[in-house]
Amino acid sequence: MASITIRNLDETAKRRLRERAARNGRSMEEEARLLIQELPVSRDADSNGATDGNERLHVALEEERSSGNSFAVNDYPAAGKRILLIIGGGIAAYKCLDLIRRLRERRVEVRAIMTKAAQEFITPLSVGALSAQKVFTDLFDREDEQDVGHIRLAREADLVLVAPATADLMAKMANGLVDDLASAVLLATRAPVVVAPAMNPAMWDHPATRRNLAVLKADGIRIEGPAKGEMAESGESGTGRMVDPMILVDLIGDLLDDRPKPLAGKRAVVTSGPTHETIDPVRYIANRSSGKQGHAIAAALAALGAEVILVSGPVTIPVPRDVALVEVESAREMLRAVEAALPAEIAVMVAAVADFRIARESSQKIKKNKRTTRQPLELIENPDILKTIGHHKRRPSLVVGFAAETENLVKNAQAKLESKGADWIIANDVSLSSGVRGGVMGGDRNSISLLTRTGISKWPEMSKLEVARRLAEAIVESLSTSRVEV
Ligand code: PMT
Repeated sequence: MASITIRNLDETAKRRLRERAARNGRSMEEEARLLIQELPVSRDADSNGATDGNERLHVALEEERSSGNSFAVNDYPAAGKRILLIIGGGIAAYKCLDLIRRLRERRVEVRAIMTKAAQEFITPLSVGALSAQKVFTDLFDREDEQDVGHIRLAREADLVLVAPATADLMAKMANGLVDDLASAVLLATRAPVVVAPAMNPAMWDHPATRRNLAVLKADGIRIEGPAKGEMAESGESGTGRMVDPMILVDLIGDLLDDRPKPLAGKRAVVTSGPTHETIDPVRYIANRSSGKQGHAIAAALAALGAEVILVSGPVTIPVPRDVALVEVESAREMLRAVEAALPAEIAVMVAAVADFRIARESSQKIKKNKRTTRQPLELIENPDILKTIGHHKRRPSLVVGFAAETENLVKNAQAKLESKGADWIIANDVSLSSGVRGGVMGGDRNSISLLTRTGISKWPEMSKLEVARRLAEAIVESLSTSRVEV
């Protein structure tokens, strides 16, 4: 791999790289290397004559920008909106200075309230200088309270962000306590509230904080973080760091994005995770699917405005925002749920459905047989959900299947495209020798080939989130041109 010197990049490239690295929780150097590795084969910088590491990085960053994957400074969906930033008293308060700067360069108006404790860590002077606004600190400020200033602040915000949110602030919020300006505004606001906690890992794990967290979530408050890592206290590490400011910038962009979405008005049904096929009351047949890829695709389609019905087998990962989850166990239940979700314009079948189930489920726990060590299980074929939907009378206009293969990847995937009546098949090498770091099934990364009726495009290894985002964009493109090819 050619060498990269981040210091030699121009300011725009550095900024884009920094933003991407922050979003992904990596160092700029790590991000740069991954970006170059992910450079699509068709746009490989070497084919443009760029052999130097930094040149390749520029091409990769340009690719990233033109694919519209990050909110560019000039195209920020929350531009012109007003954020009320409540700064709590923690060492992470210093990150708010960077946050304010980044929001302001995206033309967001930032008003800040600082708690008494926050002022022990950073000064109202620096917050005021960066936000170019008066900083609010007191509930009983003579000037502001003449027109009930705390109600005005609460009302005039498009979004309230609490960062860093200390254990104390979260406890007050969960219990509706008001003893200062920050807590008064939090009780009075009707705007969406985002909380970015930051505290010592022991405080974060404490049952009282867990209880307060559950209450805040139930109240509809969005919690972002905390992240894992080293703490300010020397030698301490764990979960408790405030997330990077760029993550909050992206989240605010998403939450306040009121631009028309390309999949608005379209319904998508996505399957995800494994199925469990019962053997007896305590045993079942399963597989290693985690649901990460299917859930990410559901989230990416929802982010583009689709109404998403996510039919998932048993998984332990969180339900993505803005999708309707239907939980199932077996292949037969999954088929019923998918058919019930029709009509839909888009179907993406990511689930690792068991091809077979037990012919006769035992109603009692199967005992060992004293006469033999063999215990044959008779299997019968499960319904093929993708095939059923691909030939359904209410067939969605775009039917996408996956093919998890350990050999003859493209040939087998092509056969599935035909036999299952799909428009696209995503060929997935799930063998142990796929070379994908951490493995595909259960891991965070994937390397796929997209097969259509007219061609095949090989995507480089990337995160499952990135696969999902790119697939969702390809779906938008194909529906808008009424073509089912890429
Ligand atoms: O969940 P992860 O850990 O993130 O892993 C992701 C994944 C590897 C499971 C995913 O990327 C993937 O490849 N999913 C397809 C798994 C699979 O069952 O492949 P298959 O080749 O056996 O099936 C082909 C297609 O038919 C798939 O779209 C499958 O959902 C569908 N199918 C299969 C059998 C069946 N009875 N009904 C079906 O609908």
